[in-house]
Amino acid sequence: MAGVKRALAVDLGGIVLATPVMIAAGCAGTGRELSGLVELRKVGAIVSRTISLEPERGSPTPRIAESPSGVVWSTGLQNPGVDAFVSEELPRLARSSTLVVVSIAGGTLEEYVRLTGALQGRPEVSAIEVYLSGPDLELRRPMLGAHVDRAAEVAGAVARMSMVPVFAKLPMHASDLPEVARAVVRAGATGLTIGGSPPALDVRPERLRPGLGGVTGWLSGPAVLPMTLRAVFDVSRAVPDTPVIAVGGIRTGEDAIEAFLAGAWAVQVGTATLIDPAAPVSVAQGIVRYLRAKGLATPADVRARLRVPASFGAVPDEDDDGR
Ligand SMILES: Cc1cc2nc3c(=O)[nH]c(=O)nc-3n(C[C@H](O)[C@H](O)[C@H](O)COP(=O)(O)O)c2cc1C
Repeated sequence: MAGVKRALAVDLGGIVLATPVMIAAGCAGTGRELSGLVELRKVGAIVSRTISLEPERGSPTPRIAESPSGVVWSTGLQNPGVDAFVSEELPRLARSSTLVVVSIAGGTLEEYVRLTGALQGRPEVSAIEVYLSGPDLELRRPMLGAHVDRAAEVAGAVARMSMVPVFAKLPMHASDLPEVARAVVRAGATGLTIGGSPPALDVRPERLRPGLGGVTGWLSGPAVLPMTLRAVFDVSRAVPDTPVIAVGGIRTGEDAIEAFLAGAWAVQVGTATLIDPAAPVSVAQGIVRYLRAKGLATPADVRARLRVPASFGAVPDEDDDGR
């Protein structure tokens, strides 16, 4: 098994994970909930729920609604605020015998900088994931990460301050995602978390009501995997030397292999963990099975190996609509 572990280890720009499978933000609680249910040392890293400067009460309940092949969710990023997180939750997460990546979200540039400062020098923090799907309160825009310059400004500021690797979690539905990715990497981000959840609405017709207390939300689970693959494919071709972590719809080893083929270096598992806490471990085991069956040594052997025609990506003729 030690050989398997070595073969699965992945270096994401300075943070070395025992396996390329992480638990996605918001899906692992404080880590305590999972210990006993899953061998966390077999998980590459846990990403904390997203932390803000001040405590966040979050969305009204219900916060999760089932949908075909997925869930619609809106937690409103409920969290205790960075001070309580650092003093109470972080030490518990760090006892979970895997690496801890802390997800942060601010409404302003200054908040991101202060959040990074609050995590500075904490030995429990192996990396920071910068959540960029929230509103930009300073520039009054609905999604900070949708704007190339702004995403780069924020991710760059965090990266310049941080002593640990910084991953920018970009919204998969941003228009010109590869351009945002290039700018964020140029600004100093170590890597990118690509995918996540597209916007969604659940409707309960019998009561003429939305299924979520927060009304609108986000779709996650198997339904979004093809969108994740597309986003990872586009982004990893734009920044081929940058670690890309795929998130959205991954629940089996085969799903992870599909993400590696599209260009991912590692994957995150979210919704599948809510259904089966051991899902990240079975995803890792599924990766091993696939590699063994193909006679391959590591996930890097399949990374970005999707065979596409040489003509793919060429500028289309005028009468070709590109579809
Ligand atoms: C209940 C729930 C809570 C979540 N909370 C967060 C969060 O705090 N921060 C974040 O960046 N993403 C959050 N997510 C999104 C996941 O990290 C992930 O990007 C998304 O669910 C897609 O992956 P999946 O299809 O494997 O679930 C949450 C998802 C769910 C279902």
